Amino acid sequence: MNRRHLIDLDDFSMDEIDQIMSTTDSMREVLNRPISRVPTLRGVTVVNMFYEASTRTRVSFELAAKNLSADTISVTASASSVTKQESLVDTMRTLQALGADVIVVRHSESGSPHLIAQHVAGSVINAGDGWHAHPTQALLDLYTMRDRFGSINGLKVVIVGDILHSRVARSNLWALTKAGAGVVLVGPPTLLPVDACGGCSGMPQFEVEYDLDRALMNADVVMALRIQRERQDGAYLPSLREYIQQYQVNEERLKRANANALVMHPGPINEGVEIAPDVAYGGQSVIEAQVTNGVAVRMALLYELAGTTREI
Ligand code: CP
Repeated sequence: MNRRHLIDLDDFSMDEIDQIMSTTDSMREVLNRPISRVPTLRGVTVVNMFYEASTRTRVSFELAAKNLSADTISVTASASSVTKQESLVDTMRTLQALGADVIVVRHSESGSPHLIAQHVAGSVINAGDGWHAHPTQALLDLYTMRDRFGSINGLKVVIVGDILHSRVARSNLWALTKAGAGVVLVGPPTLLPVDACGGCSGMPQFEVEYDLDRALMNADVVMALRIQRERQDGAYLPSLREYIQQYQVNEERLKRANANALVMHPGPINEGVEIAPDVAYGGQSVIEAQVTNGVAVRMALLYELAGTTREI
């Protein structure tokens, strides 16, 4: 792939996304071998720099790098010189001077990975920045849907919850619409961007719906999102009880979707809030498959962006 960075998917072509999907297939084949480790990225150093909490993304990037035989180091901002007011750019230059070829970064400030990419010679992968983007999550979501349905084209995907603060929803919008899905964003008006307008000002096409029961009719995929209380400094909801009543994905509501509809959630889950436990762990849920696929997708991204010409 003729790219060094992954900041978001807005400027990715469908051919590039297809290439990542196809490389992910190869990585999944590697993971199914008795010894799931290949020497492809031997000599490459991957640094995971997380300024925000993470379980899935961080662990799967670590596993992905190790499976490709890269040297991998994980740095937690709270235990680094960031606490001594070292700037973002200085920290990244330091990591580069220490030999980092690929920097995987999560940050609460939107735009941080873009800024870093302007100051380092290696690759930068966005592992989630503020409300802006979470492209590796969107790619693993796309891969999981493609794995179950064969093609994304024509699917109806309902994304419900705290859309306003969701970087997952934003990156998924780009990935899903490029792949030909119809996307419906659902939530209370306070948790949808005030200017949410599918197809306006360069945005991808999507529909906005405030009634989850209506939105779920004929849905192929139902993706629930967490209420992100850590990003909310205002009163976005009258009460959690009311939110649950209107927007929780539960067994009864799910009956409105297609019988083979997939239930997804990027995690972490607030059980009993945006999704009922029996749905999260039920027969239609692919939430664990999403997590597992995250390793293969991130192996594919490290391989594609590290600039290696070695075979997998
Ligand atoms: N989906 C996601 O980004 O999860 P983590 O915060 O655990 O990485």
